[in-house]
Amino acid sequence: MARNGRPLVIAANRLPVARSDDGWVTSPGGLVRAVLPTVVRTGGSWVGWTGEVAESARDTPEPIVSDGVTLHPVALTAADVEDYYEGFSNDTLWPLYHDAIRDSGFHTGDWDAYVRVNTRFAERIAAVAPPDAMVWLHDYHLQLVPAVLRAARDDLRIGWFDHIPWPPVELFQRLPWRAEILEGLLGADVLGFQRDGGARNFLAAAVQLGAATEVAPGVVEGPSGHRTRVGHFPISIDVEAFEQLAGARPALRQAAQIRARLGDPEVILLGVDRLDYTKGIGARLRAFAALLDAGRLDPARHVMVQVATPTRENVEMYREERNEIEQLVGEINGRHARLGFTAVHYLYQMLPLDELVPLYIAGDVMLVTPLRDGMNLVAKEYVAAHTDDDGVLVLSEFTGAADELDRALLVNPHDERALADAIVAAVDMSRSERRQRMESMRTRLHDADVAAWADAFLTELAGPTPP
Ligand code: F6P
Repeated sequence: MARNGRPLVIAANRLPVARSDDGWVTSPGGLVRAVLPTVVRTGGSWVGWTGEVAESARDTPEPIVSDGVTLHPVALTAADVEDYYEGFSNDTLWPLYHDAIRDSGFHTGDWDAYVRVNTRFAERIAAVAPPDAMVWLHDYHLQLVPAVLRAARDDLRIGWFDHIPWPPVELFQRLPWRAEILEGLLGADVLGFQRDGGARNFLAAAVQLGAATEVAPGVVEGPSGHRTRVGHFPISIDVEAFEQLAGARPALRQAAQIRARLGDPEVILLGVDRLDYTKGIGARLRAFAALLDAGRLDPARHVMVQVATPTRENVEMYREERNEIEQLVGEINGRHARLGFTAVHYLYQMLPLDELVPLYIAGDVMLVTPLRDGMNLVAKEYVAAHTDDDGVLVLSEFTGAADELDRALLVNPHDERALADAIVAAVDMSRSERRQRMESMRTRLHDADVAAWADAFLTELAGPTPP
């Protein structure tokens, strides 16, 4: 039971586990890592896609029980994956919501698939949610579900949380189906955003585009008279779990081995991202290259490790990004590597947590430089892993994490010179300044971990409907 005796149902595009050739594996991304501990703790169920392609949309796979959580799979056919997931979600919404740093495709066929799959999710949730349940929907894939679900089940409390940025109205307005998206979301009782700016952008869009009126601060009313509360709830991580992993002997031993395998450099610079064009991997590599070119860094003393997790490989923009990054890594190593010294160690792989944590510990300087990011949990994971109060975080101003981790070296990743200067400042920072900054960020993280995030959202959802 989650709140006031109401059971909890989570719905997200993906289930927390995906079926692969090696059996069930944890799904990629921060959403699963953040939400799963809450459901495991409170009990409940999860509706989502297994990552497999179904023969027919009518296949309703049997529920699976994992870690005490009942998983209800939603079937996606090859056409659904292509048009709803790769198309409307990741070729239309993703770039538009990330400051339009790439052009979105606006295709009616993709939109039709988005409507069809959102309706299927709503039907599945309506079929499995216990009476009076709290349904917590996640992310941009499911923005039409709140209204469809409310029409089917008015006993449910419906919340939706946006893991990515919500764009300024001038960008959102480009969407040919903006009215439908707003109408869909306004079926929720609570809409949650990562940052105050995102919540304000949503309110501006709803009011200025005529979908709702603001009847009280942060409360909007649609044409049906239904009221929706809008707020910001910055997501976090399971800080204690990270600290435990990072403080354990195997992780410390592995961290020392990583340093030795890299040739015992003075400074290990680290990047860990899904290989996404929003993450600013290219900007970071170009800044590193410029520093090596100018002799401000030395490849024998300063080594970079870039982990790039494969993601959305069927979407053209991701293939282009991968080519660009791999070309850059090749160019940098071609110019600066020596026999026995690699300038950039590049891993196009998804690393499990027990390999990631030792890397965080070994990383002296963590480079988190997205051009836009809803939160960025890697930044928080790095800080939590530094129980030694050492390490420097270079963090883009355009991440949600920058609101809380303001003792990082904050940087504008579009400004290559500023980025290069921040890297040098991080490399040269004194031990006492590193300790001061890291201690303060770790205290901040402790005050706002993932349990506090889930608690704040679910308390709001369980609370009284505004009059
Ligand atoms: O937060 C954005 C998001 O889409 C999450 O839903 C997910 O955790 C992550 O990115 C991974 O993306 P995908 O599910 O497309 O692999």
